[in-house]
Amino acid sequence: MIRFEHVTKSYADGTTAVDDLSFEVGEGELVTLVGPSGCGKTTTMKMVNRLIEPTSGHIYLDGADISAIDPVELRRRIGYVIQQVGLFPHKTVLDNTATVPHLLGWQRKKARDRAAELLDLVGLDPAQYGDRYPEQLSGGQRQRVGVARALAADPPVLLMDEPFGAVDPVVREHLQTEFLRLQSTLHKTVLFVTHDIEEAVRLGDRIAVYGAGRVEQFDTPATVLGAPATPYVAEFVGADRGLKRLSVTPIETGDLEQPPVVRLDDDAARAAGRLAEEGAAWAVVLDADGSLHGWVSGAGLAAGTGGPGGPGKAGGEVRDHARRMDAWLPLGAPLKQAFSTMLQHDAGWIAVVDGERFLGVLTPTGLHAALRRSTAADAGHVQREDVVVESVPSA
Ligand SMILES: Nc1ncnc2c1ncn2[C@@H]1O[C@H](COP(=O)(O)OP(=O)(O)O)[C@@H](O)[C@H]1O
Ligand SMILES: [Mg+2]
Repeated sequence: MIRFEHVTKSYADGTTAVDDLSFEVGEGELVTLVGPSGCGKTTTMKMVNRLIEPTSGHIYLDGADISAIDPVELRRRIGYVIQQVGLFPHKTVLDNTATVPHLLGWQRKKARDRAAELLDLVGLDPAQYGDRYPEQLSGGQRQRVGVARALAADPPVLLMDEPFGAVDPVVREHLQTEFLRLQSTLHKTVLFVTHDIEEAVRLGDRIAVYGAGRVEQFDTPATVLGAPATPYVAEFVGADRGLKRLSVTPIETGDLEQPPVVRLDDDAARAAGRLAEEGAAWAVVLDADGSLHGWVSGAGLAAGTGGPGGPGKAGGEVRDHARRMDAWLPLGAPLKQAFSTMLQHDAGWIAVVDGERFLGVLTPTGLHAALRRSTAADAGHVQREDVVVESVPSA
C-alpha cells in the first residue's frame, strides 16, 4: 500500500534527516515508527503526503509513484493527525470535524451528518460536544476530534504523528485502546509515529525502530522485543523487554490446562466422589450449554458451602455449591493481562474462553511455558538473559 524505495532527505545545511529508507506497509496494516527525537520520523511522514519532497528515492501509494500525483489530490486520500491537533479555534467541534468534507464540496447537511457520525465513533457525543469550541475540551477530547477529522473523508491511509504525545498517561492509554478498537473495524493503512516504545509495541502490527535517519529493525513487536537486531535496538527497547513482551504475546490454546469439569445440574455427591477419585481439589463448573459458570471445590461439594440448603448442607446439585468465576479472559488476550488478572483476583488460575465457550485454564506454569514459547520462536537470536530459569521443584 505504501512503499519506500531508497528514500533520502538531506537539507542544505548538510543534515541528512532520512537516509536510504526502504520498507513497505501493507494494506490495513498499522506500522509504528519509533525512535528518539530528531531521528527522522516526522520527515518520513511528511514525505508521504508531500509536505516534504525527498532528495532522492521514490514513495509509492497503491503502486503509483506519489511524485506524479497532485499533492491536493494525494492528501484527500491521506488523513493526517498531529500532536498539536491544529483544530480551528473559531470553529465548533462539528465544523472542525467536517473540514475536509466541506473542502470536498459536500452538501452542508451531508458533511455535518458525517461529522456527527465520526464524533460518535471516537467516543464524543455529538449532541453534547458538537457545538463546543476546541478550548472548551480537554486535551484528550481535542485529540479525539483530531482523529475524527482525519477520518471524515474516509481516506484509506492515516498518518499519525505523536497524536497522543501531549496527554497524560491514563488518558493516553484510553485513547490507545479506543484507537485499536476503531482500527479493528476500519482497517486503515496507518503510519503512526511515537517516541514511546510501549506505545509502539502496543499499537503496531509491525514497528520500525529508527536510529539516526535509518531503520535499524522493521519487524513485529514480539520479534523486536525478543530478538533485537542490533545493540542499538536492544538498548532502545530497554532491559525490561522480556516484561514488555508479555503485552505482545497472546494466550494460545496450547498454553491451557484441562482441570476436571462438572455441570451445574450434576449431582453434587457424585461430583465430589469423582473429584476425590481424580485427586483434584476443584473443578470448573459449566452451564448446560458449555459456557463458563464458575468453579467449585471438592471440599465444598462434600461439606456444602451454601446454596438453597444453607451453609453446611451437602447434597443437591453442583449449582447449590458453585461459585461464580470473575477471573477469565478471551483466548488471544495478552499474557500481561493474564498476569494482571491473576494478581487482581489473587487467583492461582484463570479461565480462558472463546466467546461463551470454556477452553481451559491458564496457571502460572502455563504462563511460564507461554513465555518460553515466545522466546523460543526466536531461537538462535535468544540471549541468555532472555531464557526463563526453570522453577525449582519442591521437595
Ligand atoms: N528544515 C530543516 N532544515 C534542516 N534540518 C532539518 C529541517 N527539518 C528537520 N531537520 C532535521 O532533520 C532531523 C529529523 O527531524 P524530524 O524528522 O523532525 O525528527 P523526529 O520527528 O524523529 O523528531 C533532525 O535532525 C532535524 O533537526
Ligand atoms: Mg517528530
